[in-house]
Amino acid sequence: RKILTQHGFVDKDLLTYPYEERGLQFGDGIYEVIRIYHGDYYLLTEHVERLFRSAAAIKLTVPYNKEQVYHKLAELLEINDVKGDAKVYLQITRGSAARDHVFPDTEPNFYAYVQDLPRPLTELKNGVSVITQEDERWQNCYIKSLNLLPNILAKQEAKEQNCFEAILHRKEKVTECSSSNVYIVKDGKIYTHPETNNILHGCVRSKVKTLAQNLNIPLIEEAFTLEDLQTADEVFLTSSNAEVMPIISIDHKQVQDGKPGTKTISLQKAYEQDAK
Ligand code: PDD
Repeated sequence: RKILTQHGFVDKDLLTYPYEERGLQFGDGIYEVIRIYHGDYYLLTEHVERLFRSAAAIKLTVPYNKEQVYHKLAELLEINDVKGDAKVYLQITRGSAARDHVFPDTEPNFYAYVQDLPRPLTELKNGVSVITQEDERWQNCYIKSLNLLPNILAKQEAKEQNCFEAILHRKEKVTECSSSNVYIVKDGKIYTHPETNNILHGCVRSKVKTLAQNLNIPLIEEAFTLEDLQTADEVFLTSSNAEVMPIISIDHKQVQDGKPGTKTISLQKAYEQDAK
């Protein structure tokens, strides 16, 4: 497989970076994870727009304009002859330079690679278990930054408790999960945290807003609490990897009857139809 870099395509075993690389030393960069179904990008515009928003937020200049990014990402799939379900990981850092907190005078490092990614069909059908964790991140979670230490610690804790994800909360208010957005259904309405600086503005989240509207399910962008979570009729999460994923247990306590909810299932079906 070939990796896309700012210096053209490079064989995956031949790509190396200097030890003084700002992504490695400072986490000084941004990334995107983009879904591919049947060899085609899904929600690509949303991802590219967010990439440029993240870059601007950390004063990083993307080495390409948007048209060039679209063109290069298309090339990446062609060169690797991608036909099935996959994902692209794309990362831009502030470059390689002698370690100094101040921005260097070098070009950014850009790379993107593609990996096969089957759909999580068993989990989508049966639902997953999650835990809750205090959200210990900074105040700019809308930036898709490489600094993921709080996220990986939360996810690892979930894994150690045999769970799929960790729902994060700032005091009583639920924000999102370690690598996905989270929703409850209560009395026929969907609630999710508004698009503030405290959550990542998920591409699947924005698609779910449209899908809910088409299905005539009201979606209210209002933060809900840990208590609301406990009494919810349904709970689900979304991401490019996990799609629309039912949550059937929280902190080892069943959500309602412990089965994926009906509204969640309708959204799942609508998503699947849209992604086809
Ligand atoms: N994570 N919230 C966080 C903190 C995330 O890291 C992600 C995505 C999402 C969902 O965003 P989207 O719908 O655009 O995938 C929400 C990616 C998949 C990752 O880090 O691997």
